Amino acid sequence: MSSVLMIAAEHGGLPGGKVGGIGDVIAELPPALVNAGLSVSVLLPSYGVYHELPGSQLAASADVAFAGSVQRIGLYELPKLGGAGCWVIHHPVFGAPAGQIYHHDSADSPFATDANIYALFCAAALELLVSGALALPDVVHLHDWHAATFALLCRTYVGEQSERSKALSELPIVYTVHNLALQGVRPLQGHPSALSAWFPSLELPIESIRDPRYPDCYNPMRAGIVLADRVHVVSPTYAREVLLPNALEIGRHGGEGLELDLAARSAAGDLFGILNGCEYAAAESNQPLELSDLSEDRRALVAAMDLQLAQWLAKHEQMRSSDYLARKTLDAATEHLLGPPKDCFLITSVGRVTSQKVGLLLAVNSDLASNVTLLDTLLGQLGTQGLLVMLGSGDQELEAKLVEHAARHSNFLFLRGYSETLADHLYRSGDLFLMPSLFEPCGISQLLAMREGQPCLVHAVGGLCDTVTPDTGFVFDGENMREKAQAASAAFAESLHARSDDEAWLQRRTLAAANRFTWADAAVSYKNSLYEKA
Ligand code: GLC
Repeated sequence: MSSVLMIAAEHGGLPGGKVGGIGDVIAELPPALVNAGLSVSVLLPSYGVYHELPGSQLAASADVAFAGSVQRIGLYELPKLGGAGCWVIHHPVFGAPAGQIYHHDSADSPFATDANIYALFCAAALELLVSGALALPDVVHLHDWHAATFALLCRTYVGEQSERSKALSELPIVYTVHNLALQGVRPLQGHPSALSAWFPSLELPIESIRDPRYPDCYNPMRAGIVLADRVHVVSPTYAREVLLPNALEIGRHGGEGLELDLAARSAAGDLFGILNGCEYAAAESNQPLELSDLSEDRRALVAAMDLQLAQWLAKHEQMRSSDYLARKTLDAATEHLLGPPKDCFLITSVGRVTSQKVGLLLAVNSDLASNVTLLDTLLGQLGTQGLLVMLGSGDQELEAKLVEHAARHSNFLFLRGYSETLADHLYRSGDLFLMPSLFEPCGISQLLAMREGQPCLVHAVGGLCDTVTPDTGFVFDGENMREKAQAASAAFAESLHARSDDEAWLQRRTLAAANRFTWADAAVSYKNSLYEKA
């Protein structure tokens, strides 16, 4: 086994190529696999821009049968990134509008636009392998629902009886689930964005691709899980959690309806849980670990927040209430932030504003007064001792709730948007990184915060459980939502108390920073367990 072709929707190594953690994985895992001796290429859609990047070259064109007509696509080769090949497929529908990765469809047609794009993308990928424009790899590695339809097309491929078509039907497929909560479910038929509309003449293995909850729908996530040779989720704990059904009334996210399929793959020994990694600048050096100077980091953070807020204010014709409140809170807190770091307990949080990430913070804690959320409770506990700075955007309803919290708590600074630079400043400057996700397949932010010596407060789920320990951070759990919120608040109280012991706190920071979750280690596991077995 020596060559791997990854098919994915995001690539953090390309400009604007990252929306979530999958973008980080596709940027950082392939170079690590290359270092481990594999030949790796990544294939993704052009999104109307990547085929025009400097150094991009048209490698082939092909006609793809899709939705009852023939679509002309172009295959472009980009310069290698980190030693890994990079290919993009261009078709005009991938770039409407140019540069945008995912689209928001109305609630009555979820995923419709994206599902059309990725169905054509997967059909084009197969056609390029059939025609030989793309060399047949030893393993195809598909990422999340966007690439999963490739497994369906490959396993049902009927071509002329040739060596190549035989090789294709036996092509080993690995499927990684980054987030089971997004499955890309679409109708089987009766809609322009439906399986039978894309591939009218395909003989379908309906029973293995049908959505278990909506039997008239196609579930690409399920197709990937059922049809791949090996299934991979991104942490050991998540690999156990997904075998259980969801029980949302007690705050448990499990297999999101696909637990029976996952349990069957697990029983057969085909389910793997390899932890993601992150990049460490000094990983190879034997230099003793040096934590950065928090006073300096905080000066830089304040400047970066000033600049970002000014940019957001300039960008929108009308002032957003979130920017107004953030500006006001920053003005009032600047002096505190620039004072001795010890006097200002700075809590940070970076992530997409989704119910996965903030659902527990915004859940109403029924044991306290009505309408008091966990976030209210934590901010009340913090009082004037410090500040919580949260950076992120996403679901508008949840954003609005965070803005409401920012309006009633002068110690909560909500930066509504995203900037990698600002995120880096927050990883470096904070005392405590808050990540109470309801579920977390792996999580990357906690790794980045720890790398900079920032202890994390996390919910004991998925990859959070596999990376944060009581020595390096604070871990809480509970049997239901109420208990979870209480445990989170108790863990937070513990952190406030622990912070008063300078030496023990420094020890905790040092241990957090000394942790190593490297892509090099992950690459060895991919190579030896996942790919070898496939
Ligand atoms: C998704 C998951 C996150 C994981 C990432 C990369 O974003 O929510 O936990 O780290 O994918 O695998």
